[in-house]
Amino acid sequence: MKPIKVGLLGIGTVGAGTFNVLKRNQEEIKRRAGRGIEIAMVADLNIARARELTNNECEVVSDANLIVNHPDIDIVIELIGGYGIAKDLVMKAIANGKHVVTANKALLAMHGTEIFKAAQEKGVIVAFEAAVAGGIPIIKALREGLTANRIEWIAGIINGTTNFILSEMRDKGLDFDTVLKEAQRLGYAEADPTFDIEGIDAAHKVTLMAAIAFGIPVQFDKAYVEGITKLEATDIRYADQLGYRIKLLGIARRTSHGIELRAHPTLIPAKRLIANVEGAMNAVLVQGDAVGATLYYGKGAGAEPTASAVIADLVDITRLATADPEHRVPHLAFQPNAMADTPILPMSEITTSYYLRIRVADKLGVLAGVTRILADATISIDAMLQKEPAEGETQTDIIILTHQTQEKNVDAAIVKIEALPTVVGNVARIRLEALS
Ligand code: NDP
Ligand code: HSE
Repeated sequence: MKPIKVGLLGIGTVGAGTFNVLKRNQEEIKRRAGRGIEIAMVADLNIARARELTNNECEVVSDANLIVNHPDIDIVIELIGGYGIAKDLVMKAIANGKHVVTANKALLAMHGTEIFKAAQEKGVIVAFEAAVAGGIPIIKALREGLTANRIEWIAGIINGTTNFILSEMRDKGLDFDTVLKEAQRLGYAEADPTFDIEGIDAAHKVTLMAAIAFGIPVQFDKAYVEGITKLEATDIRYADQLGYRIKLLGIARRTSHGIELRAHPTLIPAKRLIANVEGAMNAVLVQGDAVGATLYYGKGAGAEPTASAVIADLVDITRLATADPEHRVPHLAFQPNAMADTPILPMSEITTSYYLRIRVADKLGVLAGVTRILADATISIDAMLQKEPAEGETQTDIIILTHQTQEKNVDAAIVKIEALPTVVGNVARIRLEALS
């Protein structure tokens, strides 16, 4: 059988990785796919670099439209990023009856509903394994491997850049900016690193996982997003002393009244496996009702780990290209006419535990005032740490870990605690998940 023809849009970090891995492992991949997979055309703004990277082994063009409109191209790989030109090209490729592989979580989290609908109508596949957790096959695990389960919750370290920053800051005492620059140099960070450090990238990814896990539309606009830029080194240290690590987690949880969808720094007990995932590594913990907890670990970013996921999608499409569209695995795991409209909960309604750091004047009765407010708000205390004031100082920190409660209870209690005359400045609050 003739090789399937692929057009690659964007030969940057992931594009170059994909080209190289496909070339290096082509014989093995052909044996798996049942036919050859050939990158016949590449589009990139930097033609000279693209020619060099592809060793003049395929046609290189600067206008990506030439690929999405080319009659001989069967599959388009979109590795440009963003939701400007990338969206336009993906929609054109679908309209022209081409299957699409993309690593672009931003595009799918923002416009997934429209893109999957167009693909469904046209009978083509939009595959996106590389969009979540890089090389870890988590989309396939959620969509196929765990298909017997009612998924209860997912918690993942799904942004390599921020995990790398938190690990390097904690272990080597390096400062934020230095580590971010290194993550950019290594090709982990997004074109706009704000997406990484402000939690947007993690929220894009958990939004996609939630859709597949719960059979709901892709709803990034309803996700709660908080990054690591406001995290203080003091809190990382106190968390350590209490037996916890702070990680940026993407969390999706089914509850009886709706779905929690959130990405934010989170305390995790240091003894959990996932708390020990360091550097740019990613890990996703999935709780299913039949299987229990399963943990997926691996490289979440970088040229070849991400290429591994892109090529897995290429092989899947090559195998499925001839199958009747009605009998393919649905894009979002559930049949399009069987999606649920379960609401995404507002953040005030989510339930979790909390770490609170309260700066106080070292005076009699201060602690009693704080604990009274928490008791009145029915917030139960799990652990507490009160430091001696440093030599010559009159203020100190009280650290409180709470049991589970609703976010709105904690919000109200924090307002009251901050109004106490003995409390100095704002209360630092970080959410805590036992993940048990
Ligand atoms: P890069 O910026 O390294 O690569 C993008 C490439 O697209 C560049 O070569 C760029 O050219 C080219 N490009 C930009 N505009 C156009 C255009 N209009 N037509 C043709 N080519 C164009 O990005 P990455 O490879 O890092 O990321 C690609 C996608 O993969 C993104 O969606 C990203 O979120 C996702 N991803 C990335 C991972 C990673 O580890 N890097 C991991 C998982 C997903 P030029 O440089 O000249 O502008
Ligand atoms: N910027 C992303 C990260 C790339 O750091 O995880 C992988 O999606």
